[in-house]
Amino acid sequence: MFRVLTLNNISVRGLERLPRDRYEVASALSDPDAVLVRSADMHSIDIPSSVIAVGRAGAGTNNIPVARLSELGVPVFNAPGANANAVKELVIAGLFLAARNICQAWDYARQLTGSDEEIDVAVEQGKKKFVGYELPGRTLGVIGLGAVGVEVANAAHLLGMRVLGFDPQITVQRAWQLSSGVEQALSLDDLFSRCDMVTVHVPLLEGTRGFVSAARLRLLKEKGVVLNFSRAGIVDESAILEALEAGKLGAYICDFPTRLLKNHPKVVALPHLGASTGEAEENCAIMVADTLKDFLENGNIRHS
Ligand code: MLT
Repeated sequence: MFRVLTLNNISVRGLERLPRDRYEVASALSDPDAVLVRSADMHSIDIPSSVIAVGRAGAGTNNIPVARLSELGVPVFNAPGANANAVKELVIAGLFLAARNICQAWDYARQLTGSDEEIDVAVEQGKKKFVGYELPGRTLGVIGLGAVGVEVANAAHLLGMRVLGFDPQITVQRAWQLSSGVEQALSLDDLFSRCDMVTVHVPLLEGTRGFVSAARLRLLKEKGVVLNFSRAGIVDESAILEALEAGKLGAYICDFPTRLLKNHPKVVALPHLGASTGEAEENCAIMVADTLKDFLENGNIRHS
């Protein structure tokens, strides 16, 4: 019998992959063989010494002390690509939010009061105030061509955007998954200097922390847009604020609560909704449960 401790609610479709005759799965369990986790921060908890594997029902692993576990020989499995479609859809929504000022205009419309005539006047003013732009012909830079980045690049290309991708570690296989309209930039600076909008899809590592920096934002085209649906630390928020205030940046759309920027009229900040669809939760749980099972029962290691 394998004992699996769950630290978050894991989709039942995933848990069904661990049959009851061979697995005991519970949120409170002594001496577990494995841990299944979504977003719970495992850095701050004592991991029982009985644990021989950790599975994350998601893509990133920065809520898990991977280095410490590796030293103990405990593999950490994740679910790469299982939520890529969900994240892609929200990023594409983010492009429209920015281009058409949707959140700001909605806020404006909700606050309209007065007679029908007064509202008609305000509607006319709103139409002028929130003039947007269309995506075809604009250039989108996609930083990081992993599962999500490739999906975003291809979808933006289908919307008629010019797309520039950059990933120093791109594999031949990934390059083949890019539609023919997606061009690869020579460097990050090259990408920033040729784009109207930039979206980041890299993990948060020492090398990527703050790499959407003041210097790079200066290279972006006037009234550019930055989208961050990856991890908060990848973008230097003070530099974003400075660029917004200087009128250089037109909008910042991110998938994290942000104390510094939350009241800024040109910022839309969501509560990490990228992978929050029923489908993505199921896909991640199924992928990681299968991987964990393969390791526990056969000793195979994949997605670690
Ligand atoms: C992920 O790493 O899979 C996403 O950020 C989703 C999440 O953490 O819930």
